[in-house]
Amino acid sequence: MMGRTKTPQLLTRKDFPDDFIFGAATAAYQVEGHQFGGAGSTHWDTFAATPGNVINAEDGAKACDQYHRYGEDMDLLRAGHFDAYRFSTSWARVLPEGRGQVNQEGLDYYDRLTDAILERGLQPHQTLYHWEMPSALADLGGWTHPDVHHWFGDFVEIIDAKIGDRMTSIATINEPWCVAYLSHFIGAHAPGKRDIRATSRAMHHILKAHGEAMTRLRAKGRDNLGIVLNFEYPTPASDAAEDIKAAAVQDAIYNRWFIEAITKGTYPAEALEGFAPHMPTGWEDDLKTLIHQPLDWLGVNYYTRHIHAHDPEAAAWPHTKEIAGHRATTQMGWEIYPEGLHHFLTWLSERYVGDLPIYVTENGMAWEDHVQNGVVNDPERCGFVQDHLAMMKQAIEDGTNLKGFFYWSLLDNYEWAFGYEKRFGIVHVDFETLQRTPKASYHMFKDMLTRS
Ligand code: FCB
Repeated sequence: MMGRTKTPQLLTRKDFPDDFIFGAATAAYQVEGHQFGGAGSTHWDTFAATPGNVINAEDGAKACDQYHRYGEDMDLLRAGHFDAYRFSTSWARVLPEGRGQVNQEGLDYYDRLTDAILERGLQPHQTLYHWEMPSALADLGGWTHPDVHHWFGDFVEIIDAKIGDRMTSIATINEPWCVAYLSHFIGAHAPGKRDIRATSRAMHHILKAHGEAMTRLRAKGRDNLGIVLNFEYPTPASDAAEDIKAAAVQDAIYNRWFIEAITKGTYPAEALEGFAPHMPTGWEDDLKTLIHQPLDWLGVNYYTRHIHAHDPEAAAWPHTKEIAGHRATTQMGWEIYPEGLHHFLTWLSERYVGDLPIYVTENGMAWEDHVQNGVVNDPERCGFVQDHLAMMKQAIEDGTNLKGFFYWSLLDNYEWAFGYEKRFGIVHVDFETLQRTPKASYHMFKDMLTRS
């Protein structure tokens, strides 16, 4: 077949346990087309409309128009021999004002999408929050507001009543580090804040929202509940004690804060060093009760590593800076570091979750893909997938209870602050015509995943 990449000794479905599932992932705001179907404004719409935040000030108004093309997209998954689809359900699509009046059209859309997934023999894996805070609630402070977990819990019950009984798995939150730190401390994602008090509150409230959703869904008898956390391999820039400390602080903020809170009911000391003075009252009690609840599974998103050094010029905590690495990078400028995935899978099992099922809920790469003569050749992506699959296989051999892998992403889509420039899909999307063109990597999956 034209455009096919021949990777030596391709790992296939047969190299993994029989019950291991392969899927592809997307998220509501990145693919649906937020202007369709009566959805309310989100903080991403206004963040994008503010100069300098998003490349070309692009937003998710049209995106991939999955709102109308979901049937075609589910056909692609099925024809690619995938087992599962990971998607998210937008809060502002269901509740345009975040609370109160339900948008029936929005609920009906997720009902149709669920049917479309199931009709094709695919497993639906739902994420309840993948970043589209309704603007009406953002006005009140969004993730910094002390009641946000109640607002979220109410949304969760409404969407769950519509589709929850048909979900193979339900994740409460996607990547709390991005929701809290990237969005309130670094300011790179909506709502674009740079404030340690706001960050400390968001770091805690996002976990309360997770706990609230767990509590409400447990009360309905759900037993397939988890959370999706992201991890980045932290390398100290040198052997100097200060650089080792810098990497440990970033490790605590990024990799340990959320998993430690959920599984042990504590926050890491290196991160509390900065956040403790700004935490909301009662945080110690929340940790022991609402936040520290058993999971049914854990989702791991992994992309890259970062090299951290002490920054003598930074007057304020955390006194760290990032140093460029020397490995090959993706279109995002992210170093390709597959060993980090093996590290996190084994580290999480050994230290935090034991035998709990783990899923790699995201891993993938952006590349500057072009359609030429109807074909998209992406040997780099094929190699990336194979290298990361090798690490997953190794982690299973080393005792990790890894149950599945979702490639990010099914489609090229709205890559947040990078707009439509960065292409992560195994299916190319022409953002003018919305035409879908499966890339060579899609065909690689199709071959790998066939059961014949
Ligand atoms: C993750 C996000 C996902 C996508 C990928 C590239 O942080 O969960 O929406 O943007 O990165």
